[in-house]
Amino acid sequence: MCGIISYIGPRDATEIVVSGLKKLEYRGYDSFGFVVKNNSDFKIAKKVGRVSEATADGLGLPKSNIAVGHTRWATHGGVTEANAHPHVSNNGKIVVVHNGIIENFQDQKKFLELQGFKFYSQTDTEIIPNTIEYHMRKYDFVEACKRSLKHLDGQYALVIIHKDENKIIAIRKEAPLVIGVGEGEFFVASDVPAFLDYTKKVIFLNEMDMAVIDTAITIFNAKKDTYVERNITNIDWDAEQAKKGNFEHFFMKEVSEQASTLEGVANIDNGLIREVADEIRNAEGIFFVACGTASYACMHGVYIFAKIAKMHINFCLAHEFPNFNHFLTPKSLVIALSQSGETADTLIAMRAAKAAGAKVISITNAMGSTAMRESDKTILTRAGPEICVLSTKAYTSQLAILTLLAYELAGKLEEGKEKLKDVVRYIYYLTSENTRKFIQEIAKNLRYTPHMYLIGRGLQYPTALEATLKIKEVSYIHAEGFAGGELKHGVIALIEHGTPCIVFTSTETETEIISNAMELKARGGYIIGVGPNNNPAFDVWIKVRESEEANSICQIIPMQILAYQLAILRGCDPDKPRNLAKSVTVK
Ligand code: M6R
Repeated sequence: MCGIISYIGPRDATEIVVSGLKKLEYRGYDSFGFVVKNNSDFKIAKKVGRVSEATADGLGLPKSNIAVGHTRWATHGGVTEANAHPHVSNNGKIVVVHNGIIENFQDQKKFLELQGFKFYSQTDTEIIPNTIEYHMRKYDFVEACKRSLKHLDGQYALVIIHKDENKIIAIRKEAPLVIGVGEGEFFVASDVPAFLDYTKKVIFLNEMDMAVIDTAITIFNAKKDTYVERNITNIDWDAEQAKKGNFEHFFMKEVSEQASTLEGVANIDNGLIREVADEIRNAEGIFFVACGTASYACMHGVYIFAKIAKMHINFCLAHEFPNFNHFLTPKSLVIALSQSGETADTLIAMRAAKAAGAKVISITNAMGSTAMRESDKTILTRAGPEICVLSTKAYTSQLAILTLLAYELAGKLEEGKEKLKDVVRYIYYLTSENTRKFIQEIAKNLRYTPHMYLIGRGLQYPTALEATLKIKEVSYIHAEGFAGGELKHGVIALIEHGTPCIVFTSTETETEIISNAMELKARGGYIIGVGPNNNPAFDVWIKVRESEEANSICQIIPMQILAYQLAILRGCDPDKPRNLAKSVTVK
């Protein structure tokens, strides 16, 4: 939620920040703003809408050596220019951009109003520059920033600049912020792709780190009340991976990358899989926790662990975990799945586990993310940057990693790896131009439907749920996923003449799921079968060959393509659906 980028150094900061913010637009796209430090003056530009079309010239921003940009996903206050960031102190000298929520902003606002401060927006953020101004009545800029932190409850990644100072201050508490380190130049951003064109060297800030950056960087940790050293890490992502290449949208680019991302998982280091499997074997009481698409990967994990490893794992949506976390003991294990590694709800669940003395393993796509840094062990999904707001390639990598863990727990890791390698070859076909064209024709028939229902059994049940999420979030068509067995318990009442129903089949579930398909058809349903065999119940058949335990990985791919095609046909933005943001860093 909300993207931040800033630069200090010898190059044109304005250009770097404008182009960098475009790379972070997936984090929020209600409105955007920039501040450029021009000698000892500020030039600020704010706009409602998306930053994609903005240019430094068009916004009237001069060249500079210090600049800050922000793209907003509104929390406090509507989508207006006044509420867009940056926010400025009353004396016009201090400028702040913020990702997160200041929970006590109303109390602090009252306090500042009593000191004579005025407010011009409805945001929580505006109290921050004014709190700093208040402390600057007695202290210098850096000290005032430090003291201001004591007034802020909540989560925040902040970048702060002052009119009379050639420095950037960057602070993080429970919201992502990374520093890119170049030759005599520094970048501060919510996420690495913002500056990958310039450097792959990064410093990941820890909780309550406050970095003071000019020609060098010093980091003060407000929790420890002392200056600290932080290591530089080399990121193995490539700048090209974070670009669209020949594709019109990141969505289809990332869908098409799945053969190679899954190949990466198939070649993962056995040692790491074995270490994590040992943790699972030795634990008593294991929970998968995650949100959204990652939660469907967890559900898949429950099924695949039961099937292959003959183990039962609990699953809980991360934000529902407070209802169950009292079961945790020091022998428990929490396995957190998160593409971004920054989802607030998932991090809170992980922290609850830590507080109970339990171990935490994360499966994440983001090296250096909070999830990675706060876990005992991490398996990186290594799917490369996922820029589209919808999770696609990270999801199939999560499924593949869970599959390998299940195989290792059953003492058959090599067999699992072979199965994945076999699937990789088939995924080239599933993501090919031919498949895309075929699915486009199906999408043409579905584009005006108000509702769609998707069913699966066993491993295909989570697939049905994930497919519905893909369709809903990008095409805005109402789609619901059910376990096939649920139909007769009420759901079937929804079926009318022509209602599209997508039915996921497999050799194992065929008899029962085809019965369900027949029940739907008998009530007028328009049946789209997805699986290895055609059937008279189907009006349309999307052939996905039998891949047994890897069926879920294969069957979701035509559904990702269907969601994409529906979005295109309905004039929706496939990369940035309305109201969403890529990383949900607020509770
Ligand atoms: O970064 P995470 O995997 O923790 O994100 C979890 C969800 O917010 C995410 O999967 C979301 O549901 C996506 N919009 C799915 O496409």
